[in-house]
Amino acid sequence: MFADILKKLRQLNVPFFKLNNFKLYGGILVSIPNLQIALDNSSLESALQTIRNTGDIVDIIEVGTILCLSEGVQPIKSMKALFPKKTIVADTKCADAGKTVAENAKNSGADWMTVICSATIPTMKAAKQSIDELQVELYGNWTYEQARNWMDIGINQVVYHQSRDALLSGEGWGEKDINTIKNLINMGFKVSVTGGIKLETLEMFKDLNIFTFIAGRSITETNNPYESAKKFKNEIKRIWS
Ligand code: 5RP
Repeated sequence: MFADILKKLRQLNVPFFKLNNFKLYGGILVSIPNLQIALDNSSLESALQTIRNTGDIVDIIEVGTILCLSEGVQPIKSMKALFPKKTIVADTKCADAGKTVAENAKNSGADWMTVICSATIPTMKAAKQSIDELQVELYGNWTYEQARNWMDIGINQVVYHQSRDALLSGEGWGEKDINTIKNLINMGFKVSVTGGIKLETLEMFKDLNIFTFIAGRSITETNNPYESAKKFKNEIKRIWS
């Protein structure tokens, strides 16, 4: 009976109790989401300037797709050298040649890397063998059946994404996104959320066990990235504690 109640609360994402930095959702302790900075700078020099100001504050450092494409693996090496204890993500959005891309990322210092959701299972499997953790980037059309296949090969992280271009064309975060994220969490995924995330956006995820918030421009393109990163950390702590 008690187990049924807990299960129902978890399905509804309703916290059973709150204590210090944890909430109990259906028998699962939920902790405060991580803050990941997305370095989508076009040059290594400007990425280094950003990370020197913010690296101590954020939990996870992402070498963004734009930076990977413009500077190759050097930014991954630099981030690892500067912050050896932080998790470094190579946002390669890999679509093919999973083994080679993952080996290059890992050998340069990345702990995690991303693959695009349309990549094949063999590509994902190959990448997974050479990197500590693989994250599937959810863009466009994907199905829950595909998601179950990712789980079956041992992938437990997804990045739920609002694309820059979708945001530019007027789409925003809404109920549909919240429901999809809930479903993914209930399937057992650690879900990171990204795409135009602002301080004000965080509140709408307050009842969800979000693994990580990934913020780029709301930190990097402000007058004071250090203060902006601190505000994100404080707001996450305020909402989830
Ligand atoms: C773009 C990305 C970005 O790194 C991520 O979405 C964060 O960017 P922003 O907060 O600036 O929207 O993966 O493909």
